[in-house]
Amino acid sequence: MSELYINGGKRLVGEVTINGAKNAAVAILPAALLVDGVSVIENLPYIDDVQKLKRAMEDLGAVATLEDKHTLTVDGSTLFTHKAVNEYVGHIRASYYLIGALLGRFKEAEVAMPGGCDFGGRPIDQHIKGFEALGATVTVEDGVIKAHAEKLVGTDIYLDVVSVGATINVMLAATLAEGTTTIENAAKEPHVVDVANFLNMMGANIKGAGTDVIRIKGVERLNGGRYSTIPDQIEAGTYMMAAAITGGDVYVRNIIPEHMYSVSLKMMEMGITIEEGDDYIHVVAPQKLKATNIKTLPHPGFPTDLQPQMATLLSIAEGTSTIIEGVWDNRFQYIDELKKTGADITVEGRTATVQGVPALHGTSVKATDLRAGAALVLAGLRATDGPMIISNVRFIDRGYEALEEKLTTLGADIIRKN
Ligand code: EPU
Repeated sequence: MSELYINGGKRLVGEVTINGAKNAAVAILPAALLVDGVSVIENLPYIDDVQKLKRAMEDLGAVATLEDKHTLTVDGSTLFTHKAVNEYVGHIRASYYLIGALLGRFKEAEVAMPGGCDFGGRPIDQHIKGFEALGATVTVEDGVIKAHAEKLVGTDIYLDVVSVGATINVMLAATLAEGTTTIENAAKEPHVVDVANFLNMMGANIKGAGTDVIRIKGVERLNGGRYSTIPDQIEAGTYMMAAAITGGDVYVRNIIPEHMYSVSLKMMEMGITIEEGDDYIHVVAPQKLKATNIKTLPHPGFPTDLQPQMATLLSIAEGTSTIIEGVWDNRFQYIDELKKTGADITVEGRTATVQGVPALHGTSVKATDLRAGAALVLAGLRATDGPMIISNVRFIDRGYEALEEKLTTLGADIIRKN
């Protein structure tokens, strides 16, 4: 079992390059299964979730070859089964996209119930509502989701909650359906747009991605093509906050600054200087930060996937901050671990109140999920009193490529012990 050891208190200085977006990549790979030909997908992050999905696609019969660490060629023409029921499929959240893709391709799908980080309930009723509206029958038997349709026919679907997963999954299932599907109250996250752009590049007809109404005119077939995944908004935000928590001076490169607006503006409220370039953000942070309040919301609101990292940053800001989690029922499980480092945080329901403290100290903590792990890494970068020893690193490896290497280049003292 790996552990990260961080000797904090080092000011981060320099530049860091952001990889492709995890949550776009894990949807684009299943989307490539709709293509009856070869897709070449560039700028994929080299992370565990992507490797697991690659394996799942191979088990389905796709020929998936890494051209280099970040470029995957997927030949979907060799697909021979609609069943993705291996145990490891259930370990990744994004395996639910295999349902939309296989249903779209074969009108039939059997996929193990998705796993992923635990934030209380993670229902998929809106995905199922969408598939059923398109004409599928969906059942759950022995931990396997089974979907079947004689044919899929486009229709109007209103999502009762703004869901990234349901929006993308319905888009996947509707791409090869007969007629036009309209998704009302769609999620607007950059990765929703990225998946639509990928599908359109392969021959789909999807309009409106990035707004709350998406129209998908079904096409008969998708051909191959080449596509490059967008940069990871959450990885970028994590490094922006890593710079800030050390009073650092860091260029975060290879990003789309517009995707970072809510984060940049909140960090500016904390007294941090944010300078935007075409494809970078330069973060310069003072030693003392100011408290602020955040509420996580679907895009373009403040992303829930940066809420734990922001909590760590606010824990050393002067004054009292309030964090309201507006997306997930239970995304504060990590707070108990963060408090071990000296953070002063109380949680009531979906609200956390953070009383700024002057210092954090190193101790042994465990990552409870992916972004919780990132939050503890930030605490480790700041802590001055002994090393921060973080266990359950496998959660962090699900979503951050070369974390130690990138932080070391910026001047952090971080090593992994196996
Ligand atoms: N929801 C329902 N019914 C559904 C689907 C969602 O009630 O059928 C609710 C959820 O319970 C939640 C809200 O809707 O309260 C939003 O869920 P959403 O479907 O948008 O989340 P997701 O697709 O399961 C993705 C990301 C998460 C990220 C959320 C919100 C992937 C693989 N995961 O999850 O990312 O937190 O969107 O932006 O794209 C992470 O990267 O650390 C991560 C957890």
